Amino acid sequence: MFDTARWTVPAPLLQAATAGRDLLDDTIRRLTPAAVTAEVLREIGDHDVRLDLRFDGHVTGHLRTDADVVVTLDLADAVRGLYGDDERPWPSLAVTTPNPDLDERGVAGWFHSRKGLAQSVQELLTALRPARRDLGELAVEFGTDKWGDLHWYAQHYERHFARLRTAPVKVLEIGIGGYGDPNSGGGSLRMWQRYFRRGLIHGLDIARKTVTGPRIMAIQGDQSDPVFLDRLGRELGPFDVVVDDGSHLNDHVRISFDALFPHVRNGGLYVVEDLQTAYWPSWGGHPETPPHTSMGMLKSFVDGLNRAEVGDPRGERSYLERNISGISFHHNIAFVEKGLNAEEGGPAFLRTFY
Ligand SMILES: C[S@@+](CC[C@H](N)C(=O)[O-])C[C@H]1O[C@@H](n2cnc3c(N)ncnc32)[C@H](O)[C@@H]1O
Repeated sequence: MFDTARWTVPAPLLQAATAGRDLLDDTIRRLTPAAVTAEVLREIGDHDVRLDLRFDGHVTGHLRTDADVVVTLDLADAVRGLYGDDERPWPSLAVTTPNPDLDERGVAGWFHSRKGLAQSVQELLTALRPARRDLGELAVEFGTDKWGDLHWYAQHYERHFARLRTAPVKVLEIGIGGYGDPNSGGGSLRMWQRYFRRGLIHGLDIARKTVTGPRIMAIQGDQSDPVFLDRLGRELGPFDVVVDDGSHLNDHVRISFDALFPHVRNGGLYVVEDLQTAYWPSWGGHPETPPHTSMGMLKSFVDGLNRAEVGDPRGERSYLERNISGISFHHNIAFVEKGLNAEEGGPAFLRTFY
């Protein structure tokens, strides 16, 4: 039902990119150099340059064959540039301009053409090792409302996600955007794809969506269907990050949290956006945020963190009480941290000390 085969090549590649060269080479051989080349070319998009990727002494694939300049690069170096942490200059880079007529256009034309070529080569190398950019800038570029417009969330995301940004994470966002228009939306998925350069990005929407891109998968489904969400979690998770930016109806937020939180990895985060609806009756909220509202649910996690201080300090705790290790609130957005909450409560004699 879910296109799990889609990650057959990128998932191991994202892991192997920071490993030693032997392990990376073995991974490329196992996945096949042709499949890895296709993945690299999908990631960098089109350029005015011919790129020959090489592996084990053979050219494994090209980007264009009609360009005036040829860049040759080892396939493993390209993978490390895209997904690795290698800051060294390209060890296997060669740039050639095989067109012999190029020098015969007169001095002015020759310099002009060289300038254009240099720029094209540089754009290709930048795509092969994308610069680190902050979320506010990416939110503006890709047109999500997480920064400006209605919300100022990017600053909070930056603070909580910074430790994950270079890790090979799996991200799920509920709500692709664009509502009923299949060709609209996807701004935040593109933003996450650029921010988590080793991330596999999943978007869930009740409407059919055509958004595609390297490391992006759009899934159609309803966030108020717990059986569907559980299957999604089992087949595509566990996730390091889940973001709920879907319907924002209070019931839906609670159902999605209950179904998906078990599929968040320890150390991961579950984020709920647009908590203003918890106070709005027409969205299923209430100004005093009782337990059936999304904010009521989130506030109960604060007491859950300290459940051991109530009743038997070693007593049984619920799944959420044992597995939520932290929670942060900002204006209209909350971050729930998954981790073991197993500390014992204070000793009995201290409880009656005064
Ligand atoms: C605010 S938009 C998401 C914006 C996007 N995350 C961004 O930042 O660019 C909300 C999306 O949630 C989707 N949605 C509404 N109800 C849903 C449901 N029950 N299950 C899944 N998605 C739903 C809508 O179709 C809409 O595209």
